[in-house]
Order: sequence, then structure tokens, then C-alpha cells
Amino acid sequence: MKLFGSMKVIDNTLHIGGVSSVELVEKYGTPLYVMDEALIRDNCRRYAEAFKIKENNNKVIYAGKAFLTLAMCKIINEEGLNLDVVSGGELYTAYKSGFPMENIYFHGNNKTPEEIEMAINFNIGNFVVDNFYEIDKINELAIKHNKVQKVLLRITPGIEAHTHEYIKTGSIDSKFGFTMLNNKTLSAVKRVIGYSNLELVGLHCHIGSQIFSIEPYLDEVELMLNLIKSIKEETGYTIKELNLGGGFGIYYKEGDEPKKIEDFCSCILEKAKQTSLNLKMDMPTLIIEPGRSMVGNAGITLYTIGSIKNIPNVKKYASINGGMTDNIRPALYQAEYECAIANRVDSYWKEVVSISGKCCESGDILLKDVELPEMYSGDILAVFSTGAYGYSMSNNYNKIPRAAVVSVMDGKSKVMCRRETYEDVISREILD
Ligand code: LLP
Repeated sequence: MKLFGSMKVIDNTLHIGGVSSVELVEKYGTPLYVMDEALIRDNCRRYAEAFKIKENNNKVIYAGKAFLTLAMCKIINEEGLNLDVVSGGELYTAYKSGFPMENIYFHGNNKTPEEIEMAINFNIGNFVVDNFYEIDKINELAIKHNKVQKVLLRITPGIEAHTHEYIKTGSIDSKFGFTMLNNKTLSAVKRVIGYSNLELVGLHCHIGSQIFSIEPYLDEVELMLNLIKSIKEETGYTIKELNLGGGFGIYYKEGDEPKKIEDFCSCILEKAKQTSLNLKMDMPTLIIEPGRSMVGNAGITLYTIGSIKNIPNVKKYASINGGMTDNIRPALYQAEYECAIANRVDSYWKEVVSISGKCCESGDILLKDVELPEMYSGDILAVFSTGAYGYSMSNNYNKIPRAAVVSVMDGKSKVMCRRETYEDVISREILD
């Protein structure tokens, strides 16, 4: 079991942000997402520093899909980072939080005309354009609103990164972006340049998520800088920004060996510098878009153990009062986590159990065959590294209300998102 940021074991009880997990549970109930604010801020600062956003004018864009609330937008803004949104809902969250709209990058492979218009009305900084349909649509709506809209083009560079099939996005066979085959990229560039209400500022690519090795990123840098150079040669147009996407892996379980933020960033910057020199071109502004690595290890989820079932010589199950509704990753990607009994972290007696969720679905198993202190109904289970793609992928299957999110720092806790009520769950339904 690996502890991150402010997590500590005091009197055999897990503490986070200077607050005891037992107290958090008494105050807010379970399931409960707990976010270590100091660790999130520290990650933001480490990225900003290592990627030289001040020195070199590079940019770090937080990928909001990992975890986004009003308060999270505020943290990102206070830390001086930009924000990647991928839907009208994420954009609206940023807008309502007071996030500066010029620092928004709007992604997505099928932004609806309504989303595009809303973004133009909000005066967002940049669209990351995914396809020809969208080039035309954004131009049409920019004309309607009498604006010149900045855009980046998303390219699928055909780079294979070793990660789960569902979260791999950079290969040629992908629903995202302009393929580099058949000169499609060049046609897209020409189309944007030809439109007077669009300003082409950059290229974007993203090769996947939860990637540990640096090599695919170095290949990406090389390939994209070559592309920028060939665009210059073919069209005379200078691409000013190169966005290399996110995807940097984090530690979830033994065997995961992520690179340090500083090492990742310096390898990318060095490669970009060398490649630009070799290609005799000016280095564009470099951008990265981390999501998971900004918040993943900063979050834990606390649950209460309910029923415990022992099938002699087969398996012992302990059920929690949450599951695939608050963390769908094990069911969707066979994701694995580390966990602990938060109120009795260590004990002489250990046992092997599987932690099952409460959904009416046999696949709702959060953790398989983990070794934990012998547990009893009423114990608190802490699952680590749930800060990314937990709350943001939560759902109401079986009409289970969504869990609350609190942030903790310096011995204090704050609600980021209150627990859903049953009234919330049925609030959009109409009885005829
Ligand atoms: N930029 C783009 C264009 C992306 O599509 C993504 C993630 C990111 C940045 C941030 O990637 P990160 O640094 O968080 O790996 N739900 C999956 C992950 C899906 C990632 C989708 N795109 C999971 O729970 O593992």
C-alpha cells in the first residue's frame, strides 16, 4: 500500500489532509470521495515549473475530464493553468466557476452545433478541431457571431502506446482527429487557412492514457515537428503551438512505475529542442494536457463495509455501499487499485477478500482477492488513487445517488460536491 501527498497512518487510522478518515466518515457519510487539495496544487506547480510555462511560454492544460467541479476549476485557475473541456457540460462548469474563457481548449470528436455556439458566445480561447464537418461548422458560427476563432487541428499520429484498448487514441484506426494518411492533414490545414473567420494556431495530438514509457511521446514530438515543417514548406504557414496531449501514467498498484513529472517534462522539452534544431525551425509553443497525473493519486474513496459472505474453500466477499456507480474503472478496464481498512490499517490477522459493489450486476467487483486485515461490517474501506475518472465517470445505475466529494487540506475539510439525494435522482422525471 502506497500513501501519497498528505496521507498518513496515525494510531492505526488513515489520515488525509490532516483529517482522520473516521472523522470524515462521521461528518459526511460514505461513499465519499476525498481529494487532497495540497497534492493537487503541488502537482499543478510541479508541472508548471517542469514544463517551463513561465520561462518558455509553454502551456500546461489540465484535462478536466479526469475530475471537474466548480472548485476544481478555481484551483486550476489559481495555479495559472489552462483547461481542456470536452463537452458543453464541462464548459458550463468552467464558465460558472469564473474560469477565464480565453484559457479554455475545447476538445471532442463530435461537438454539437449548440455546444460550438455556446463556446463562441462564451468567447473561449481555442477549439481543438477534430474533423472537416467541424471546421465548416465553427467557421459558419464564427461568421454568424462576427468573430475570428482560434483553432488547433487534432491529428492522429499513428503511434502505438501500450495501454488499455479503450483508452488508446493515437493509432490510425481511431474515431479521433485527422489521419495523417492520404494528405488529409494538409487538406485540413488548407481548409482552415482558407477561412477568414478561423485562425489556425496549432496542431494537437494525444496518444492514449495511463502510459508509462516516454518513447511514444518522443516519437510524437519528432513526427509532429516534421509535420509542422512540411506544412510550412507546402503552404508557407507557420504553426505556432504544438499540443502533445496527456496520458502520463500514475501508480495504482505494485508493478506500476510511472516516471516523475519532472523527468517526463524534461525529456519532452529536450527532444523538442533537439528536433527543432535538426529541422532548422523555430520551436513552437509546447503544450501538454495531463489529467490523471494531476489528480489521480490525490483522491481516495471511503466506503462502509456491509455484508460479508464467506463461501468455504471458494472466496470471501465483503460488500461496500458503492461500487461501479462511483468507480466504473474495474468493470470497464479491469483496473486495479490498492486499498486499506481505514479505521484499522494494520492488524496481525489478515485475510484475502474480494470487495464487491452493491449494484445488481455480477461484474460489480471493485477489487479482486486483496489481502486486508480481517474485516467486520461497519469497517471503513479506503480505496487509493481514485481521484481521476472516478467522480467524473460516476453514474446512477440502480438509481444509486452519487457520492459526495470533499477536499481536505491543513486539517480542514470542505464540500466540493454534496451527496445526491433520492429527490435529485428523480428530479428530471415526470409522472403523467
Ligand atoms: N487530452 C486528451 C485529448 C484526452 O483525450 C485525454 C484523455 C487527456 C488529454 C488526458 O489524459 P490523462 O492525462 O488523464 O491520461 N476514462 C479512462 C481514461 C480516458 C482518457 C480519455 N482522454 C480511464 O479511466 O482510464
